[in-house]
Amino acid sequence: MAIRLGDPAPDFEAKTTDGSIRFHDWIGSGWAILFSHPKDFTPVCTTELGAVAKLKPQFDKRNVKVIGLSVDKVEDHTKWAKDIEETQGAKLNFPLIDDHDRKVSGLYDMIHPNASETFTVRSVFVIGPDKKVKLTITYPASTGRNFDEILRVIDSLQLTAKYQVATPVNWKDGEDVIIVPAVSNEEAKGKFPKGWKEIKPYLRVTPQPNRN
Ligand code: BEZ
Repeated sequence: MAIRLGDPAPDFEAKTTDGSIRFHDWIGSGWAILFSHPKDFTPVCTTELGAVAKLKPQFDKRNVKVIGLSVDKVEDHTKWAKDIEETQGAKLNFPLIDDHDRKVSGLYDMIHPNASETFTVRSVFVIGPDKKVKLTITYPASTGRNFDEILRVIDSLQLTAKYQVATPVNWKDGEDVIIVPAVSNEEAKGKFPKGWKEIKPYLRVTPQPNRN
């Protein structure tokens, strides 16, 4: 069954390039991103894994653990990691799940049979500290993902969780945010000491709360 926003992220045990894990224990108390790759030794995936390895400090800064998945064995992942380092100039610095039995891809509905019976699509799941799914994105196998966009959404999700703000179209870190309609003007006075601009009663804009 498809996983929807707000659903509990299914827990599982799996072998990975960094040893065996139980997913929820591995996540711990922070955030996580689980993303699938159609197959080992494929060109687009090779570029993606190199890019994510380079972005690892950005995920760490946001307290987000990163884990990839591919429907091959850990021995293949380890061989592939050498190619990733050679061609992308980045060492794999996060675990890759061995999903040769399609157990995890089945749990997360990552195989879309009308796209491919055997490969996964490019799924992304962002999971919050409460182990609930906060974001899902699905790309076709032929399109490499934009991980800057994924970091942007994580920034938005984390602001919403902490400050009860939403982010407008094309928002980027550091730009003004929107006070969610559930917060009354009376409550907003305490929560947003920098004040806000009321464009409409339902559209109140305030400086990003965690910025000076
Ligand atoms: C790739 O990663 O390059 C890829 C994988 C499966 C189908 C198409 C492209």
